Amino acid sequence: MSTQQKSFSSNLGAIMAAVGSAVGLGNIWRFPYTCGKYGGGAFLIVYVCFVFLIGSVLMMSEFIIGRRAQHTPVKAFSSLRPDKKGWWLIGLLGIVTSFFILAQYLVLSGWTTGYVWESLSGSLAALGTSAAPISDYFTQFSTGSWKPALYLVLFSVLVLIVILGGVQKGIENVSKILMPFLVFLILVLCVRSLTLPGAFKGVEYLFSPDFSKLTGEGILAALGQALFSLSVGMGVMIVYGSYIPLGDNIFKTAMWITVCDTLIAILAGLAIFPAVFSCGFDPAGGPGLVFCVLPNVFNSMGSAGVVFSTIFFLLLMVAALTSAISLLEALTATIGEHTGVRRAVGAFIFFFLGTLLGVIFSLSLGSLSHIKLAGLTLFDFVDKLNSIYLPPLCALGTVIFLGWVMPESDVRDEFSNHGNLGVRFYGMFRFIARYVAPIALLVVFVSGILS
Ligand code: TRP
Repeated sequence: MSTQQKSFSSNLGAIMAAVGSAVGLGNIWRFPYTCGKYGGGAFLIVYVCFVFLIGSVLMMSEFIIGRRAQHTPVKAFSSLRPDKKGWWLIGLLGIVTSFFILAQYLVLSGWTTGYVWESLSGSLAALGTSAAPISDYFTQFSTGSWKPALYLVLFSVLVLIVILGGVQKGIENVSKILMPFLVFLILVLCVRSLTLPGAFKGVEYLFSPDFSKLTGEGILAALGQALFSLSVGMGVMIVYGSYIPLGDNIFKTAMWITVCDTLIAILAGLAIFPAVFSCGFDPAGGPGLVFCVLPNVFNSMGSAGVVFSTIFFLLLMVAALTSAISLLEALTATIGEHTGVRRAVGAFIFFFLGTLLGVIFSLSLGSLSHIKLAGLTLFDFVDKLNSIYLPPLCALGTVIFLGWVMPESDVRDEFSNHGNLGVRFYGMFRFIARYVAPIALLVVFVSGILS
């Protein structure tokens, strides 16, 4: 079955679904701690530049490839230049990356789902406000066997249900409800956080740049974070691109998504840093920031803490859900196109494989931690693959294909909706896609390998 019949119902639907994919743990969990690690304001500026200059161009490129080809990634590359062999490998690389990201994402999403319950039931609140019991609790929780696995499976089932609903009724409708809900939750938290005593220090930390703290490593991390946050470099946006209605303006659509994704990352920073500073914690808390530092912050808010903590983890879960949906959709659509299996069958296959691998990754933090690949646990190994190797490589292949291999007339035609739209930004888009983005991605990829 080709993907041709499938499409989002409107531009709003397409934007909501893609924002749903982009806004995820990357914005609310990864962005704050990465920003905290590399010095706050200065990192934010570099990040925003990368997001708009390179990330948005990558997203447009993936949309153009997907919508032009009306195929899932592997066939998209081969159908746009049938005479050039081998480019389908970039599509395959994207799909493989999506699969690994899905499995890893499910682990983190499972923790988040678990923490919604742990908050609501009062178990987190019972830990009090000293740091050690809270981080011990998290370590015990995340390295345990059955609990994280159980929550992981629960979360995967939710994802599967939405995918079985289809592109419009499932993905689009769920995104249209969950995204505004997410914005509401994050605003509630921002108001709470910004009205705490001493909150201003957190705002200052996020917005006043101290460039002396910015390192080369920080700059590379900013570009990596930009790619991750926009869900580019893994073929998912090629699949969503093939669902974008033909009359939609790709440039504007990608810009809207980029703006929303960035605003939500900044709002997450505003919800987290003021509270962290107000309670006297370290903003550079690393990946444990939201699981180890925030419960502390919530517990120091007295009885209302339970409410805010539940809201926070629910927010994180909602954000993760719409992202996981897009990952499973990309895999489902691709297997459907290649083998002709029904949508439900394809969804089940990847649901099963993704969940299984997710549980193995989860166990690799506890009872399977003795199994090592290249000296790392399976979880850390796949984390490395998913952050420094696969997405930059796939993104690099994608922009080179768009800038140098795909016929220029096709690119321009898709960018301008067959000449019906102005092409004011086309020159800049093409310049970035041909020169700036490939160089930047190459630098990230090579330095990732060397590090
Ligand atoms: N953008 C997602 C986030 O910010 C993470 C992500 C990376 C992703 N690549 C993806 C989500 C591909 C869906 C599809 O959390």
